[in-house]
Amino acid sequence: MSLSKFASLKLFITGPTYIRDEVKAAAALPEFGHRDAENELRFGPIRRHLRTLAGCGDDYEPILVLGSGSSAMETSIRSLVADDEILLNVSVGAFGDHYHAIALANGKQSTNLKFEYGRPIDLVVLEHKLKELRPDVVSFTHNETSTGVTNDMKAVCALIRQYDAMPLVDGVSIFGGADIDLSHSGAAMYVTATQKSLALPAGFGIGFVSREAEDKAATLTNKGHAHDITRQLVCARKNQTLTTPNGALANQMAVQLDSIVNTEGIENRFARHITMRGMVEEWVATLDGFEMFAPKGFRSVTMSSVVCPEGVTQAQLKGTVKEALRSKGYLMDPGYSKLNAQLEKQGMRQIIRIGHMGDITPDMLAEYLVDLEVELKKL
Ligand SMILES: Cc1ncc(COP(=O)(O)O)c(C=O)c1O
Repeated sequence: MSLSKFASLKLFITGPTYIRDEVKAAAALPEFGHRDAENELRFGPIRRHLRTLAGCGDDYEPILVLGSGSSAMETSIRSLVADDEILLNVSVGAFGDHYHAIALANGKQSTNLKFEYGRPIDLVVLEHKLKELRPDVVSFTHNETSTGVTNDMKAVCALIRQYDAMPLVDGVSIFGGADIDLSHSGAAMYVTATQKSLALPAGFGIGFVSREAEDKAATLTNKGHAHDITRQLVCARKNQTLTTPNGALANQMAVQLDSIVNTEGIENRFARHITMRGMVEEWVATLDGFEMFAPKGFRSVTMSSVVCPEGVTQAQLKGTVKEALRSKGYLMDPGYSKLNAQLEKQGMRQIIRIGHMGDITPDMLAEYLVDLEVELKKL
C-alpha cells in the first residue's frame, strides 16, 4: 500500500490534535509485557505525571481505561450511579448531552438539565433543579467542545455538594491545557482522554478517582468488567492497566508526559494555552462581522468558537474554506456540524471552531490565523 496517500496536515480541529515528531517516533519504541518489570518503566512515570498535571497529589488515583474519553465517562456512570439512584446531568452542549446518553444507555435514571448553546451553567437554575430533584449524583462538562465554553468547575461542584450529591466531571477537552487544581475541585471523579490537550493519539480514557468514589464503587453491583473502578484500581495501584494496554500509546505517553512535566513545565504549558486564547480573541476583534461565541470569563483556553458574519453558509465553511486550507496543509474545523445545521435552519449565523490545544504553539497558531483569515475574507 502506498503510504504517500496519507496527507500530513496540521490539525486545528478540537481533537484529535497535532502530534510532535518526537511523540510520533516514540510509537516505535520497544513493545513490552504489561505484567513485566518493563511495564513499570512506562506506567510508573505516566501515573506520577498525571497526578502532577492534575494537581492532585495522592488525593485521587489515576486509572487508564482502554478506549477513549467516552470509556472513562462510562466507567464513572457504571461504577458510581446505582440503578435506583437519581442522576442529574447538566449539559451546555453536545458533550453534556453525550454524558446523559451514556447514562441512559446503561439503564440509569438520568434527567438532562440543558442550557442554551454558548452559555455556561447558570448556578441559580442549577440550584433550583437540585432542590426539586434531589439527585444522588450530578454529571457535567468542564469544557464544552461543541461551543468553546468552560464551566466554573469549583463553583458548580461546590453547589452540587451543598445538596449532598456527588459531582462527576468530564474534562476530556481541557485536561493538560489548564490548571484544574483537582484536589480543591470538589469532583468525586474527573475523566479525560489522551487525544486532546495531552497531544497524543486516542486510546486511553483517563479517570481520577477520589477515595469517596472508590468507597462508593465498592458498594455497587453490575459494573461490568472494564468499567468497574474497583477492579481498575487494583491494577492501577500496581501501575498496571486492567486489560492489555496499547503499548505504542503507552510508550508515547511516557515520552510526552515526561516532556510536559520536565521539559516544558506545566506552568509554562498552562500559560501558553492562555496566550493562545488571547491571540484568537485579539484576532477576532480585528475582523469585521466576526465575534467570539462564548461569553468572556467562560471562554476555553484549549479551543475557541467564533461566530461568522451573516450570509456565511455551512456549505462554504465545510467545502470552500476547509478545502482551501487543506491545500495549504491544515485541517480546519468548520464548526460543530449538528449545531451549525440547526443554526442554519433557524436563519442564524454559523460558528467555526479553532483548536489551540496540546502542542500547538503560538507561532503555529499565528500562521494558521493568517491563512484562515485570507480564506474567510474571500466569502
Ligand atoms: C468534552 C468531551 N467529552 C467527551 C468526548 C468524547 O470523547 P472520546 O471521543 O474520546 O470518546 C469529547 C470528544 O470530543 C469531548 O470533547
